[in-house]
Amino acid sequence: MKKILVIGAVGQIGTELTMELRNLHGGDNVIASDIKLSDCEKLNVSGPFETLDIMDKNAIVALIKKHNINTIVDLAAILSATGEKNPTLAWNVNINGFINVLQIAVEYKIQQVFIPSSIAVFGPGTPLDSAPQETVLKPTTMYGITKVAGELLGDYYVKKYNLDVRGLRYPGIISNETLPGGGTTDYAVDIYYSAIKYGKYTCFVKEDTRLPMMYMPDCLKASLDLMNADFSKLVHHGDFNVGAMSFSVKEQAENIKKYIPNFTIEYKPDYRQDIADSWPNSVDDSAARNEWGWKPSYDLDAMTQDMLKVIGEKHKLGLV
Ligand code: NAD
Ligand code: SER
Repeated sequence: MKKILVIGAVGQIGTELTMELRNLHGGDNVIASDIKLSDCEKLNVSGPFETLDIMDKNAIVALIKKHNINTIVDLAAILSATGEKNPTLAWNVNINGFINVLQIAVEYKIQQVFIPSSIAVFGPGTPLDSAPQETVLKPTTMYGITKVAGELLGDYYVKKYNLDVRGLRYPGIISNETLPGGGTTDYAVDIYYSAIKYGKYTCFVKEDTRLPMMYMPDCLKASLDLMNADFSKLVHHGDFNVGAMSFSVKEQAENIKKYIPNFTIEYKPDYRQDIADSWPNSVDDSAARNEWGWKPSYDLDAMTQDMLKVIGEKHKLGLV
């Protein structure tokens, strides 16, 4: 039986991945933990929560022992935009925190460690279209540097300690349960909330900015499919490209206008433009498709319809 510790469970992905894992494995078998509390009622009532700083190795060990943990999902991170404001914190949480997890995983014979990487591993020198699985990885952000280092660390622990470490390079994740936590792709989520609430949006990147994106149901599916894949059949481990869709802000805004004809958008690029410009337009995810059967379900239009429906209902209830 799996006993899972999710670290960083209160964030954009953690909130929904934790609830999905609880549906599959039982609420009491999935321990949510984070440095901060969640205001998501569904997360709070569906299973145990522990306050945890990933930098505190002893505290992680105490939770492993208390809950007989055999699987760790490490989602604790400082994302790209916040990371540029505090690069040392990004390194500490994303790398020193992850090293704590890896060392503990070896010592306490943890069966699986899951940690996401990101399209932020790419940078100048990476082909812009269909960025290959194996390519130049020279990111220009501290966040990207931590993600490249994290992939290499994971692979090192696979080789040296035979530890089961898995991860995938999420594109920008778009969702409607918990707001994103300080990334560059946050605009692709904010635009839907602003469209519903105000009928207009001021975007912090230019209209022709095109990035790989993915809707949360596909993000959850990719994560679970990789967690459940036969480890012995994996050639890659912590660095799978996963694609779903790729669109410019202008295309996203035009898609929203199909459903909210009066929606307007203006552009005021800030420091996040440089970050976005350093990432590719799309990724080649054939390794994920071949090694564990990855296949996304949502395209831009299907996602837009669902986002507007869910956020629209929340808005009517006064929740957003
Ligand atoms: P998020 O910022 O929404 O959540 C991260 C969580 O980590 C937060 O709840 C935060 O409180 C917690 N955290 C921060 N410092 C901590 C510490 N010291 N100890 C314990 N918890 C701490 O991020 P997310 O979008 O949910 O990202 C989850 C993972 O997915 C990260 O590894 C991120 O790099 C990766 N990822 C996310 C996206 C995306 O678009 N959301 C894209 C690519 C990769
Ligand atoms: N969505 C993330 C960010 O923008 C990508 O890893 O930081």
